[in-house]
Amino acid sequence: MRVPASISAAVLTLLLFVTAPGSQAQTTQLAQTPPMGWNSWNFFHEQVTDKDIRNAADAMVASGMKDAGYEYVNIDDTWEGERDANGVLHSNKKFPDMKALADYVHSKGLKLGIYSSPGPKTCAGFEASLDHESQDAQTYAAWGIDYLKYDQCSFDKVQSRLAPGDPAAQLRILRAALAKMSEALKATGRPIVYSLSIGGENAPWEWGPSVGLNLWRDTQDISANWDRIYTILNLQAGLAHFAGPGHWNDPDMLEVGNGKLTLAENRSHFSMWAILAAPLIAGNDLSKMTPEVKAILTNRDVIAIDQDKLGQEGTRIYSDGEREVWARHLTGGALAIAVLNPGSNQFVFPFHLNMAKLGLAGPQTARNLWTGESIVLSNDFPIQLAGHDVFLVRIDHPKVSE
Ligand code: GLA
Repeated sequence: MRVPASISAAVLTLLLFVTAPGSQAQTTQLAQTPPMGWNSWNFFHEQVTDKDIRNAADAMVASGMKDAGYEYVNIDDTWEGERDANGVLHSNKKFPDMKALADYVHSKGLKLGIYSSPGPKTCAGFEASLDHESQDAQTYAAWGIDYLKYDQCSFDKVQSRLAPGDPAAQLRILRAALAKMSEALKATGRPIVYSLSIGGENAPWEWGPSVGLNLWRDTQDISANWDRIYTILNLQAGLAHFAGPGHWNDPDMLEVGNGKLTLAENRSHFSMWAILAAPLIAGNDLSKMTPEVKAILTNRDVIAIDQDKLGQEGTRIYSDGEREVWARHLTGGALAIAVLNPGSNQFVFPFHLNMAKLGLAGPQTARNLWTGESIVLSNDFPIQLAGHDVFLVRIDHPKVSE
């Protein structure tokens, strides 16, 4: 393990990267940084059509998101039609020609993702991959699919039917089903990012890499409100050392620009997902986003934190009253620090960092990633945060305590 000389022992203890068990099983070079893209579910839900996917691809290019690193355009649930007499799955009438859609997305320099379940049905009750894993993987590859979101959904009933009252055996059955699809995807010879959707039960971070997953959900579904986003953030503390290049914790897709989230909430959500090395899968209507939302989703300094090649997920270093201090260790000994005000109060007195708790000694030259300003960060630097807002900085050359 490479340990940059410029990071203090205290910070290292908190941010230490430990290779996840089984990660050597990862044979492909996919998802070396957290996947970036867009998925239809959080905005379109069950209504998504071929046209919405094409519009999203167009908007990803026109908005500058593609240039900022977004790559995958992912169709979520409700694209599925019926199986024919040979068992081959077809798309439904909302998606008249999946191959043509993939060609269109590829012609924009982007990649196409799709959705299924190891169970008989998807979460929305559509046809899924049980007993057709190999056939479905071949179909996806023939269409030109580049990413699969595989959702546990109805497979929990299969698990309990096969091993009633035996949770350990049920988990073995789930892992075997996931490994089966991983092998089926690999057998196609097409590089396909493999993502698990699950409610976070049974600690998928412990065994995700061993069944070929590039990312695994670690909570129940996100929704476009601050309480839910902050609840999910809290559930991430302690998971950092399970993530790394090729295998990521997934706190769920972004809600930036959705619902009634304020700009502060959108900024905080995006900042904290970057600190978490989370997949940045936008979930808003890209063809109708406001300039402010676009500016958040394309903030290259924040994206650079998320996509940092070291792949070391950040963590909460300490809380002080109602403010939280998170940090992420970056390539070359650099450090990202986020101060979050999760509550709705704006405090009269500004917040002051305790630099020693971050392993830092003396004033530090830093860059405020939301204002672009260069600042000198010290224990005296006043951090004034509105409710639900964030202060995010990068220190390229931290001076650390002895
Ligand atoms: C589950 C997943 C969501 C979405 C829906 C689709 O709830 O967690 O992200 O994929 O299924 O039915």
